[in-house]
Amino acid sequence: MMLLKLILLLVAFVSTAISYGNPGACSNACNVHDPAVIRRDSDGTYFRFSTGNKIQIATSSSLSGPWTIKGSALSMGSKINLAGNQDLWAPDVTKVGDNYYLYYSVSTFGSQESAIGVATSKTMDPGTWTDYGRTGVVSHAGSAYNAIDGNVVLAGDGSYYMSFGSFWGDIYNVPMNNPPLTASGSSTRIAYNSTGSHAIEGSFIWYRSPYYYLFFSAGTCCGYDSNRPAPGMEYRINVCRSTSVNREYVDKNGVSCTAKGGSTVLASHDNVYGPGGQGVFLDNVSGGEVLYYHYVDTTIGYGDGQKRFGWNLINWSTGWPVV
Ligand SMILES: *[C@@H]1O[C@H](CO)[C@@H](O)[C@H](O)[C@H]1NC(C)=O
Ligand SMILES: *[C@@H]1O[C@H](CO)[C@@H](O)[C@H](O)[C@H]1NC(C)=O
Ligand SMILES: *[C@@H]1O[C@H](CO)[C@@H](O)[C@H](O)[C@H]1NC(C)=O
Repeated sequence: MMLLKLILLLVAFVSTAISYGNPGACSNACNVHDPAVIRRDSDGTYFRFSTGNKIQIATSSSLSGPWTIKGSALSMGSKINLAGNQDLWAPDVTKVGDNYYLYYSVSTFGSQESAIGVATSKTMDPGTWTDYGRTGVVSHAGSAYNAIDGNVVLAGDGSYYMSFGSFWGDIYNVPMNNPPLTASGSSTRIAYNSTGSHAIEGSFIWYRSPYYYLFFSAGTCCGYDSNRPAPGMEYRINVCRSTSVNREYVDKNGVSCTAKGGSTVLASHDNVYGPGGQGVFLDNVSGGEVLYYHYVDTTIGYGDGQKRFGWNLINWSTGWPVV
């Protein structure tokens, strides 16, 4: 009887635990932090941008590689006059009209002296980027937020918004001008965890009518080799959704994203540890929308320089992203 109860308990536990697909294949130049992936319309080449090397650019003819490092988007650093302007973070790339727009962060670790910059190019190749510097999304000590990790979304009504933020007041959203080189209004908070260190960042809004899906990375991003967080406190990818781009994001349980809400899309599993720094793009070749991210492969190593490029096709059949 006791044994039967135990078995039943075990079966109940296993069937409610979320299981995740393993990351898609990756070959050559797979070490990456905060990736941003987009396909070039003219020839179908995949471009992968990432933190480091003044926004590193890698290309491939397939999402699974082999990837080739091509160089830097901003080889002279950013023209933004702020500490960190030679060490740019968290790229986000989107196409508007005939131009690709690259958003990047200028900051230093743990500081609120931050700004989000923008550069444009018609082809995305190294050496073709024009740096416009400041978008106007900026923060200082005492600001409600930290102005890093920008991501621009085209809303259903044709207007542009940038979500951004990291720790402090967490994630904010600001309307952008068209073309989206500068912010055009005041920002609204769309995600917040009031407890602990407010460990939410790396927002990415994906519009899939009728919903806007707000993906974000929750937990501790980095330094796992020297200071591993308590189990479950490492990076994971969460999501909330709303029918309005600028407010009322809720998770699967209806909990507001500004009141600690967030349903987990991808967390540590198998050899994958601390997935985050994510984004989404539509890849007709892979057969739909792809969630891409970085993660630690525990069979390789926990160092920040060892993070790997991961991707999975998203299954939307429940109205929520499943990978
Ligand atoms: C909010 O932060 C606390 C403390 O860091 C953490 O335990 C909790 O899991 C977070 N909540 C969500 C929904 O991520
Ligand atoms: C993907 O395919 C759809 C339908 O054929 C097309 O409308 C869309 O432009 C394609 N998107 C990309 C990014 O190639
Ligand atoms: C998507 O998920 C649903 C529900 O879990 C499942 O029935 C379906 O087979 C999945 N689709 C694909 C393409 O894997």
